[in-house]
Amino acid sequence: MRLIIKNISNLVTCAGEGIKKGKEQRDAKIIENGYVIVNNDIIEELGSGEDFKKFIDKNTILIEGKGKTVTPGLVDPHTHVVYSGSRENELPLKLNKVSYIDILKAGGGILSTVENTRKTAEADLFNESKKRLDTMLLHGTTTIESKSGYGLNFKDEVKILQVNRMLGSRHPIDVVSTYLGAHAVPAEFKDDREGYINLMINKVIPYVAEKKLAEFIDCFLEEGVFNLDEAERILKMGRKCGLKLKVHADEIVSVKGAELSGKLKATSAEHLVAISEAGIREMAENNVIAVLLPSTSFYLMLNKFAPARKMIDENLAVALATDCNPGTSPTENLQNVMTYACFGMGLLPEEIINAVTINAAYAVGRGDKIGSIENGKKADLVIFNSKNLNYLIYHFGVNAVDKVIKNGKIAVENNQIKEEAYA
Ligand code: NIG
Ligand code: FE
Repeated sequence: MRLIIKNISNLVTCAGEGIKKGKEQRDAKIIENGYVIVNNDIIEELGSGEDFKKFIDKNTILIEGKGKTVTPGLVDPHTHVVYSGSRENELPLKLNKVSYIDILKAGGGILSTVENTRKTAEADLFNESKKRLDTMLLHGTTTIESKSGYGLNFKDEVKILQVNRMLGSRHPIDVVSTYLGAHAVPAEFKDDREGYINLMINKVIPYVAEKKLAEFIDCFLEEGVFNLDEAERILKMGRKCGLKLKVHADEIVSVKGAELSGKLKATSAEHLVAISEAGIREMAENNVIAVLLPSTSFYLMLNKFAPARKMIDENLAVALATDCNPGTSPTENLQNVMTYACFGMGLLPEEIINAVTINAAYAVGRGDKIGSIENGKKADLVIFNSKNLNYLIYHFGVNAVDKVIKNGKIAVENNQIKEEAYA
């Protein structure tokens, strides 16, 4: 069955030679008065003008694109979306300038979400997380990465990764699973951090890899959490078991996390607010993707964003993500992140859209299948109520989604998810 979107004011394809590094990130390959032809779940053809007419038959669904901007389905390459509870109780502490790491050290922060998540049965955790995925889809996200890290023991980490798997198979959004057992040292190992690291290295990582519960491994490398040497051991074990690498690096303090991501040739290093000059160079030399999370900088009131412009100037590929989590970025909305990337980091609309589509797709290992509008790619598309790409960024703070096409079918229309999208 065919679906055709015609007369599209700005068809933002993000097409090209794959990942967009440095200056290339400025080109989003926009077609004016464009059309896209979808055949079942695949993009069959695109172009501009009237050529789409020869593809029309009696079963074709025609969608009017005049006054709209069409982009690839948005990809959110860094989330902690599977958790239970919420942490609005930390807001007054934060406003009283108690630091994020001090809240964590006092048993709050990540550890309080761990307590809630451990108590929550798999089915309930699925339902809580599913609601957040619904919100993501309503805002145009069609693929996410989802990290574990609120279980921090064998049983509950596996439970979270199983929820990732269930979400991936039952929700319209595609889910790429990451094991982040090294998110914090759990309370029961407070005086034996080596014991916790050994548990991950000897038991959890080999199991997760063998059962294919995750594709990536990540580690929160930060002062007061895991140090450089520990992170290297954990990530290397992941790699030995066949997992690809991501690093939560230099989020608050510069701890040479970016340098480690280069040394280990990780797929991506993420956060990077406090990255060093040497870290940028190491990442560029080793083709590590920078996944930046400006809504986290905003929410942590850091008064500082990752140096995105400098990274692009140094020939890095930049992707953007929500970091959706209950502590430092309680939002599912990637459009919000696009706003911060423009007005906080000074990125251009073209750089931003490439960062949440093609570069994000590469950051989750799916660059060959999603992230751009090109013949043969999966038909994940967003139709925005914006007359051009600049307008999409300019008119901020609203959900600009008109329709979301997922796997070639209309999944969102009139601000609602269609029941059949779950089929
Ligand atoms: O990406 N940095 C570590 N993890 C999350 C926060 C998790 C939490 O506070 O619950 C982050 O900021
Ligand atoms: Fe994170």
